[in-house]
Amino acid sequence: MPKSTNYPKILFIMSKKVGIITGGGDCPGLNTVIDSVVKGLDKECEILGFYKSFEGVLNKDYTILTRSNTNPYKFQGGTILKSVNNGHFPGKVGTNLVSQIKPEILEKTIHNYHELGLDGLIVLGGDGSLSVANEFSQHGLKIIGVPKSIDNDLLGTEFTFGFWTAVEIATESLDRLETTAYSHDRVMILEVMGRNAGWIGLYSGLAGGANVILLPEIGFKLENILKFLEKRLKPNALIVVSEGAKLEGRGQIHKSSGGKSSESLLGGVGDEIASFLNKSGFDARCTRLGHVQRGGTPNSMDRILSRQYGSFAAELFLKGKFGSMVGYENGEFVEKNLSQCVTSLKQVDASSQIVELAKKMGVYFGG
Ligand code: F6P
Repeated sequence: MPKSTNYPKILFIMSKKVGIITGGGDCPGLNTVIDSVVKGLDKECEILGFYKSFEGVLNKDYTILTRSNTNPYKFQGGTILKSVNNGHFPGKVGTNLVSQIKPEILEKTIHNYHELGLDGLIVLGGDGSLSVANEFSQHGLKIIGVPKSIDNDLLGTEFTFGFWTAVEIATESLDRLETTAYSHDRVMILEVMGRNAGWIGLYSGLAGGANVILLPEIGFKLENILKFLEKRLKPNALIVVSEGAKLEGRGQIHKSSGGKSSESLLGGVGDEIASFLNKSGFDARCTRLGHVQRGGTPNSMDRILSRQYGSFAAELFLKGKFGSMVGYENGEFVEKNLSQCVTSLKQVDASSQIVELAKKMGVYFGG
């Protein structure tokens, strides 16, 4: 990493210090947001990039961020600051939930924040990390949240960054599955991410011409899918199912334990549907897209959104608007109240315009 040591010292006396962290599952656009924050604040502030989410503040593990070490990575996938799910900082969602962070961890992190002389912390996170950020905000830390998630399930914003890239990857996969479904007279099932919210399934299903879309928000019955497919009188079809969609009588299907870094992983609902259809006279195959949806470079929409999210977060910092989250509403970036944005998740409304539109286009939701 190049060091800028040739300039007169006076230029380096920054009046303010700001930290940035990236928490929870990664997504395309994180590095774009980081670079945009740096470009928005580097004239006034020293910018500390903490590694591995809040663990970096806990361990005082950070690097000084400058244009020269963020600009080259601005459109690279993942996060140059690394991330962890949970770790010492399990999130809490909901107004009445008790903190899961151990008091000594909370205390040490707050202590380090003050000892490092931070004037604020910009947290790029999903529901878990932003609820932790909100907890620190209640303890007096100056927090600005930036909503990140491929799942698009954060309240207070219409579209999180990372979402459109995931939708594009899933849509392209459906296009590919469609041709092989036709060649082999098969029902092709695509299982996409979406733990509690089916936004990726809904948008990619609509864009990719799925015949059936199954979401965590809308209950479905295997028999109903079978009846729908039989009525079509065609052997080939496309089904998109969110990993968090609930099988009647069984709820969500958990694939395995998530290893050391997260709770149990969802997965397998697509296979269950395939096996049911295979026993019922269809020839079905399931593809689980998994983390392919999360890795790699952001698409153009996510690059633009990430630029705007980062730049607006920098503006909120300069204006001293703490306890806030950057929101995107009606084409504008706005300041939202962080604590109000972590009370619940933004889910697909079964009676919304977009669901109605999909139904008009002939999509079946399984209910
Ligand atoms: O939050 C995005 C998400 O992709 C979920 O849809 C998925 O269940 C989860 O992350 C998996 O994350 P990990 O494998 O990192 O625990």
